[in-house]
Amino acid sequence: MPSLTNRQWRLRSRPQGDMTREHFRWTEQPVAEPGDGEFRVRVRYLSLDPTHRLWVREAPSYFPPVPLGEVMWGSAVGVVEASRHLGFAEGTLVAGRFGFQDYAMSNGAGVMPLPEGIGPVDWFGAYAHIGLTAYFGMMDVAGPKPGETVVVSGAAGAVGSLAGQMARILGCRVVGIAGSEEKCRWLREDLGFDGVINYRAEPVADALHRLCPEGIDVYFDNVGGETLDAVLLQLRLHARVALCGMISQYNQGTWQGPANLGELIFKRAKIEGFLVMDYLHRSSEAIKAISGWLREGKLKYRVDVVNGLENALDALGKLFQGTNQGKLLVRVAGES
Ligand SMILES: NC(=O)c1ccc[n+]([C@@H]2O[C@H](COP(=O)([O-])OP(=O)(O)OC[C@H]3O[C@@H](n4cnc5c(N)ncnc54)[C@H](OP(=O)(O)O)[C@@H]3O)[C@@H](O)[C@H]2O)c1
Repeated sequence: MPSLTNRQWRLRSRPQGDMTREHFRWTEQPVAEPGDGEFRVRVRYLSLDPTHRLWVREAPSYFPPVPLGEVMWGSAVGVVEASRHLGFAEGTLVAGRFGFQDYAMSNGAGVMPLPEGIGPVDWFGAYAHIGLTAYFGMMDVAGPKPGETVVVSGAAGAVGSLAGQMARILGCRVVGIAGSEEKCRWLREDLGFDGVINYRAEPVADALHRLCPEGIDVYFDNVGGETLDAVLLQLRLHARVALCGMISQYNQGTWQGPANLGELIFKRAKIEGFLVMDYLHRSSEAIKAISGWLREGKLKYRVDVVNGLENALDALGKLFQGTNQGKLLVRVAGES
């Protein structure tokens, strides 16, 4: 067999503002053969996520920072290409944190086979850490009841679009906040959101006042910052705020605000952060529910696939500019 080369992106320095390819180094190494109890994965699709920015900070997030010089971490799906592990046969499609590289060696820790019949693109678009975050964040943390008003920010994004649709499935009235007319049109016309706000076109506080005159029962927050502040002003009695993410803050060194936190007192409201990794033991519950909704046509998603590992770091910028159309992925090799 000809010798294989593993192309990798390694962290070179820690960004202060935007994370770009300048903060990484491209390396090429020969691919090793698996030892006893190991298997080698050929990465097919790599997930690009806002949280990558948090992993490269100096300060720890929910993980210690990616060490300088290490292959950048990232969730990926690949195929087991060579195996000396009894639990992972060659040819199996597997998901794991294989990183920004062509090949990963694994002992099986944190790796799971994809459920039967689900390919890598569908996996990341509707399930994986995306669908599970939407599901547990909405169902468990926010817990909306039929008839309640739910607001979702980052609503046209991977997590937000699923979270909003799940609230609609539960019988809620859902208002989405997103950053372009095209995204707002998709939310309203294709996903059936009841109201939409283009935060780049009008002040969010005014729009919420107009669209949620009786107040907001649930807020699923993906962006933080000024949008969170605007929502806090419009909360209803006993509202719940599920803090999923704060992408507007990730390129800053410190967290900003919120200035209107005192509203929680007046409204006897709750705010709660959560991480999808705390719910992984309940994955099968979410996968079953999501599969059913997809089959019934109640849940839709879109994916934005960029070709080539070499383009991964430039593509990451799309998440922070808002130019990704749905779940952002890199096709590293093979078909969907
Ligand atoms: N808690 C968890 O376990 C967990 C798991 C996964 C993801 N998350 C979080 O969920 C959020 C969404 O992640 P995703 O993977 O689904 O990404 P995504 O929403 O598909 O993409 C990111 C989107 O964020 C919006 N955005 C970027 N900068 C912004 C800013 N300054 N202000 C307002 N909006 C901004 C952009 O949409 P617009 O065009 O609308 O601006 C962009 O398209 C992130 O905050 C992420 O960290 C949390």
